[in-house]
Amino acid sequence: MPEPVRRAYHRNVDLLNEQNSSLLRTTYKPEADQIRQRVAEALGASRDEIAFTRGGTEALQNLIAGYRRLQPGDAVMYADLDYHSMQYAMNWLADRRGVRVERMVVPEPATRQAVLDAYERALREHPRVRLLLLSHMNNRTEGVDVIVDAAHSWGQLDFTIDDLGADFAGFSLHKWMGVPLGAGFLYIRKGRLPDIDLAFCDETYPANDIRSRVHSGTLDVAPILTAPVALDFHNTLGAAVKQARLRFLRDRWVHQVLDIPNVEILTPEDPAMYGTITAFRITGRTSEADNVAIRKYLLDRYRIFTVRRGGPARGDCVRVTPALFTSRDDVDLLATAIRDVARRFFA
Ligand SMILES: Cc1ncc(COP(=O)(O)O)c(C=O)c1O
Repeated sequence: MPEPVRRAYHRNVDLLNEQNSSLLRTTYKPEADQIRQRVAEALGASRDEIAFTRGGTEALQNLIAGYRRLQPGDAVMYADLDYHSMQYAMNWLADRRGVRVERMVVPEPATRQAVLDAYERALREHPRVRLLLLSHMNNRTEGVDVIVDAAHSWGQLDFTIDDLGADFAGFSLHKWMGVPLGAGFLYIRKGRLPDIDLAFCDETYPANDIRSRVHSGTLDVAPILTAPVALDFHNTLGAAVKQARLRFLRDRWVHQVLDIPNVEILTPEDPAMYGTITAFRITGRTSEADNVAIRKYLLDRYRIFTVRRGGPARGDCVRVTPALFTSRDDVDLLATAIRDVARRFFA
C-alpha cells in the first residue's frame, strides 16, 4: 500500500486497540457511513447500494449464496478463468438451490469477439441458465442475471458502476485501491435488493438496508477507517493515470517478448481486454510442475515474484502483475528473464 496509507493504517490500528469497544460502539458507525458514501461516490453508485465486507471473497460469496431467484431445475454458469473460490460458491448452489452448474471455457486466443461468441454460444446451449458469474467483462444476456467479480478491476481500470452495467458486483478495496488488507464491499443496484437473501437472516438492519446482506461480526475496522486516505491517494494520481501507468508497464514487457515463438501471451492486444495483469505460457509447458518451476526460476535467478496460475482449460501459466511501484527497469528485466526462460524451458 502507499506510504501515507501505511502510516494512517498504523495510527488507526493504535486508535482501534486503545478505544476498542468504545470506538466500535460510538464513532465507528457514523464514520463508516461517511466512508461508505465516499466509496459509493467514487464508484458512481449511491450509499445505499453498497455494504462493506472483509474483501472480494465475502462480497461475492454473499451475493452468490444469497441470490434467491433460482428454482430447482434452473442452471447457473461460470467459466474456467473465474476465481476458484467463486467457482466453489457457484458449485455449492447445486445442493443449496437444486440447480445445474454449467462450466464454460474461455477461448484462447481470447479476442473480444471470441470471448463474446463463446458466452453467447454457451448461453444459447444452456437456456435454463439464470445466473452467470463474470469476471469483469460485459456480456449481453437475456433473462440471465450476472454477478460481476470486480475484485481485481476497480482501481486498476478506470470505470464506474454504470460502465459495468451490473446489478450485482463484488469488489476488493485492498487490491488496487491500496486499502490495507481486510476491506471490500458488495454492490446491489437499487431495486434489486429483494433478490439477495439477508445474511443468515440478519436482524441488525431492516431488510431494505443493504447492510443486512453482510454480517461479519466484530471486525478489525482499521482497514475501513484507512480507506479515505487510500482514496485520497488514488484521487491524487487519478484513476486514468493509474490505469495508463499500469498498462504501460504491462505493454513494455509484453512487447519485448512477442517475437519469441514459444512464449504465448494469454491476453489479447486489445486495450478493451486487459489491465496490468497478464499471464504467459511457454508452449507445451502446461502442467502445474512446469509452471511452479518457471515461477521458481524467475524468483531464484532474477528475484522477480510471479504467480503460477492453474485453472485455464488449456493448461497452467505464469501470471505477472506489475504494481504502481514497479519500475521500467523491473519490467525490462522481466523481458530479459522470459527470453531466458523460453530457452531453458523449451519443450
Ligand atoms: C478475480 C478474483 N476474484 C476474487 C478475489 C477475492 O478477493 P479477496 O482477496 O478480496 O477476497 C480475487 C483475489 O485474488 C481475485 O483475483
